[in-house]
Amino acid sequence: MGLSTRAMRIEPSRTMAVTQRMRDMKREGKDVLAFSSGEPDFPTPDHIARAGKEAIDKGYTKYSPVAGIPELKEAICDHLKEHYALPYKPGEILVSNGAKQVLIEAMAALLDPGDEVIIPVPCWVSYPEQVKLADGVPVLIERKMKDDFRLRPEQVAEKITPRTKMMILCNPDNPTGAVMREEDLRGIAELAVRHPFYVLSDEIYSRLIYGENKHVSFGVFSEEVKRQTITVNGFSKAYAMTGWRLGYAAAPKEIIKAMSEIQGHYSSGANTISQWAGLAAIRGPQDSVEKMRQEFDRRRKTMAKRIQNMKGLRCNIPQGAFYVYPEVSGWFEKKFGGKEIRGSEDFCSALVEEAGIGLVPGVGFLQEGYVRITYACSMEQILEGMDRMERFLGSVQ
Ligand SMILES: Cc1ncc(COP(=O)(O)O)c(C=O)c1O
Repeated sequence: MGLSTRAMRIEPSRTMAVTQRMRDMKREGKDVLAFSSGEPDFPTPDHIARAGKEAIDKGYTKYSPVAGIPELKEAICDHLKEHYALPYKPGEILVSNGAKQVLIEAMAALLDPGDEVIIPVPCWVSYPEQVKLADGVPVLIERKMKDDFRLRPEQVAEKITPRTKMMILCNPDNPTGAVMREEDLRGIAELAVRHPFYVLSDEIYSRLIYGENKHVSFGVFSEEVKRQTITVNGFSKAYAMTGWRLGYAAAPKEIIKAMSEIQGHYSSGANTISQWAGLAAIRGPQDSVEKMRQEFDRRRKTMAKRIQNMKGLRCNIPQGAFYVYPEVSGWFEKKFGGKEIRGSEDFCSALVEEAGIGLVPGVGFLQEGYVRITYACSMEQILEGMDRMERFLGSVQ
């Protein structure tokens, strides 16, 4: 009797754990500013929320087809063509309860026990755990701040073995904010075709890119590459729709069919009301996406500049998503309030307790020495949080 070995292999999500700790402290009446969650602070744009309400009024409250309502799948195809130069047909689309769900369904559809999945680290907390849930084996590649968290094809080539079945790319990246260069994507695509292995390309932050940087979708290089690519995207980040739970995958028909069958048994179709709202999001005006992007850009510059000037921290300028990822190891082995800082978790605990700000430790993204700070919160909160952090670090001897 007892839990399965699969369940026992899973590490709890550390970003969720930190967010929960902030919430508990706030409930206790403590003054804590949370910089931990990966969720836009903006409300869902009006026309999208209205489409959700109208869907309820029209009685669109029944089960949807497992892979999604046809109207939304068609709209996703048009959207992928217009914004990503990716031609897909509705039969190659699976709509789900958030991007998170299609990621694990792709793994369940493609991995056999012991298959290796290459993951660049630091990485979004759920990738390695999802791979383990699908009985795969995560194989990690470390990216460094001194290379601007660049992932080069040569690093990937070193990790390929006969068991390599898949690679996960998060572009733009959570937690570093890195945007991959076209030449690196092309090099990885050549490796993927030569070996061959699948590429699970998580592009959920692709509408949040700043400055001169451009998003290149992984499937664009050739028909062959597209046949091995599972493109993942969703509505949470670009349209501030985290609570609606809506995401999708685009991939060859036979892969989508297998993923849909898995979803049919796990959870059925995504929330029908959310799908009608999602349709309004991608068919409707896109100016709210641009407005939010511009505001994120303003906050990004402010936060990164403040952190670059803080005692003992090093920070590059992120190019996409909504996170700053500074190196904090300069503080390791020093003492905060009599307690030694042995790693990023100690650093974050001290900042919550002593400065009232909540960050996420790098170890949660499988990389020690860093912390993730989100700028998906108001400018006032950013300014107050940066003041607190600067004051606190400045006061430590
Ligand atoms: C890289 C990445 N992929 C996927 C997701 C999941 O998004 P969704 O809300 O669509 O499940 C997140 C959410 O934080 C993320 O950061």
